[in-house]
Amino acid sequence: MTSQYLRLGVNIDHVATIRNARGGLHPDPLRAAKIAEKAGADGVTAHLREDRRHISDRDIDLLRNGIDLPLNLEMAATDEMLEIALKHLPAAVCLVPENREERTTEGGLNVDKNFNRLTPFAEQLGAAGIRLSLFVEPDQVQLEAAKALGAPVVELHTGTYCNTQLGSPEREKSLDKIVKAAAHAERLGLECHAGHGLGFETVEPIAAIPTIVELNIGHFLIGEAIFGGLENIISRMRTLVNSSRADIVYDSSA
Ligand code: PXP
Repeated sequence: MTSQYLRLGVNIDHVATIRNARGGLHPDPLRAAKIAEKAGADGVTAHLREDRRHISDRDIDLLRNGIDLPLNLEMAATDEMLEIALKHLPAAVCLVPENREERTTEGGLNVDKNFNRLTPFAEQLGAAGIRLSLFVEPDQVQLEAAKALGAPVVELHTGTYCNTQLGSPEREKSLDKIVKAAAHAERLGLECHAGHGLGFETVEPIAAIPTIVELNIGHFLIGEAIFGGLENIISRMRTLVNSSRADIVYDSSA
C-alpha cells in the first residue's frame, strides 16, 4: 500500500492536559482540532484514558460531532472503552496498552500474547464499521498476530527510535527495525501507520518510508505551538493591557 501522500493525524490530548490543570474549559481541544483541520491535518486523534487524565468523555462527544475530519480514538482494550467506541462510532480505533502509572503509552500492544483477549474487541469494532488499528512495536511477530486477528491497520511505535540520539548507531538500528516492519506490514497486506514521540528532528526518516501511510503526532506539536504562538499572544495581551489604561488620567493625590 505504497502512497505518495502521507496522512497526518494530529493528537490533541495535551491541549486537554493544560485545560485540566485548571479544571475549566480553556484551552479547548475541539478548537485545537478545528485549527488542525485548517492547517492540513487529515485526521484528529484523541486518547481516552481510563483515568481521564486529559481527554474526557465530553471531549469525545464534542470531537465526534464538531469536526469533519475522521476521529481516531486511541483506547485500551477494556469493556468500558469498547462500549464508548460503539456508542460514538469514531472512524477508527487504535488499541493501545495502558498501564495506570505510566506517563504515556510505553511500548506497543502485545497482540501475540493477548490474542484471545483481543479477539472479541476486533470482532465487535469491525462489525460496527470502525477501522481497527493496533499499536505495536516494529516486530514481525506482532505484525503477524495483528494480521491473524483481522486488524486492517497497524501503527508502529516510534518511541524507541525517537529516544535515541541523532546520528547514533542506536538510532540507525531502531530506524532499520521500523523500515523492515513497515515493509513486512505491506507484505501482509496491513495498512501501516506510525507514531509516538515524533518531532521536527525525528520525523523525516519515518515520513520517507514509502509503505507508511499515516503518522500520528501530538505532544511535540502542542508543546512547540507554545513557542510558535507565545510571542503573538503576549503582544496581544500587552496591547489590551495598555489600551485599557489609555484614557485614564493618573491622579497621584487620590
Ligand atoms: N500514536 C499512539 C498510538 C499514541 O498512543 C500516541 C500518544 O498518545 C501517539 C501516536 C502520539 O504520540 P506523541 O504525543 O508522542 O506524538
